[in-house]
Amino acid sequence: MRIIALANQKGGCAKTTTATNLAAALAAADKRVLLVDNDPQGHATLAFGFRERDFSLSTYDLYLTSDILVEDAFLEAGDNLQLVPAGVELSAVEQALAREEDKELRLRNKLRRSAMPFDYVLIDCPPAVGLLTFNALLAAGEVMIPVDPSYYGLQAVRKMRETLTLLRERRGHDAIPHILMADFDTRPRFVRSLMAELEELYEGDLMDTIIHHTVRFKEAAGAGVPLLHYDAESRGAVDFRLLARELLAEEQDVSVTAVDRWATLLHGPRTTEGGLAFEADFPRAKTVRITGSFCDWSAQGIPLERREDGIWSCRLQLDRGDHEYRYIVDGAWLPDPHNEATAPNEFGGANSVCVVP
Ligand SMILES: Nc1ncnc2c1ncn2[C@@H]1O[C@H](COP(=O)(O)OP(=O)(O)OP(=O)(O)O)[C@@H](O)[C@H]1O
Ligand SMILES: [Mg+2]
Repeated sequence: MRIIALANQKGGCAKTTTATNLAAALAAADKRVLLVDNDPQGHATLAFGFRERDFSLSTYDLYLTSDILVEDAFLEAGDNLQLVPAGVELSAVEQALAREEDKELRLRNKLRRSAMPFDYVLIDCPPAVGLLTFNALLAAGEVMIPVDPSYYGLQAVRKMRETLTLLRERRGHDAIPHILMADFDTRPRFVRSLMAELEELYEGDLMDTIIHHTVRFKEAAGAGVPLLHYDAESRGAVDFRLLARELLAEEQDVSVTAVDRWATLLHGPRTTEGGLAFEADFPRAKTVRITGSFCDWSAQGIPLERREDGIWSCRLQLDRGDHEYRYIVDGAWLPDPHNEATAPNEFGGANSVCVVP
């Protein structure tokens, strides 16, 4: 799964146009695509013809309700293409999460917990580097920065690169930048000099594909469909198919840094000062308990508590040596999905194994 944030604090530089048309082009290339509208303006939602009355759950709920997963909130936006919509309520997220420690990781954690097998997740960001954009950047392994042909556009790319450097230095999160020349009429001389400057400054990060200026994008937006669906043979639609092809061609080379974070975050019991810490992700569970050799396989078990981020956890002081255990999830006895160490049990299944050194 590749997670790509469409971000640039400059307004009107074609983030949404890129997010929606690239999503459509990747879906047309048989990739399973999720588009997350992460902008209170809700333009990506409108671009697919949805109005606020068409949905009750949205990106807002992904941020604020730990029980709501991506698969609860998406709308069908086309073959292979799902959309988590957004509306103006998303602007309340920043204030609602002001005191939460994990506020910048809410979106990332939700995407990690989705059981849906997406090939591509695109996240359309608002024109500001606030909490919503930080969530997208920390969730993403790659960031596509559309730049329009203006000197303010050039300035904005520099700012975005600074933001990415900050994330790397402060948060250890390394997202791969892709700079995309979008809404370019390549004929005027000043545009050509801008292109030369971009090439000189960002050679390695610049996409080869250029999205040309064409009024068809505005017409398609008015009709509530991506240009690829509105006029598949238009210049703009061809450009986005080329952009999708360019991304697909680099699939082998991209180390998708963000993807495995969640898996490595949870990896079976850990030794802590307060004892052995058990953490597990059972997003739909109402109760989770743990039982094992350390409590004579009591059917009652020991309860885990659900943390703010939705993860079930508990700490146990266990004697030194090996212990076998299972989780009891809403009454069903299951091995630990995050722990590879198992031992066969007498019922033909497997118990999870932990070791206290
Ligand atoms: N290649 C293009 N040719 C012509 N018009 C374009 C092109 N790309 C984008 N536009 C138009 O430019 C305007 C801004 O585009 P878009 O909404 O995609 O920008 P944005 O970066 O998402 O804006 P915001 O910062 O408000 O979210 C829209 O009216 C869109 O139709
Ligand atoms: Mg937008």
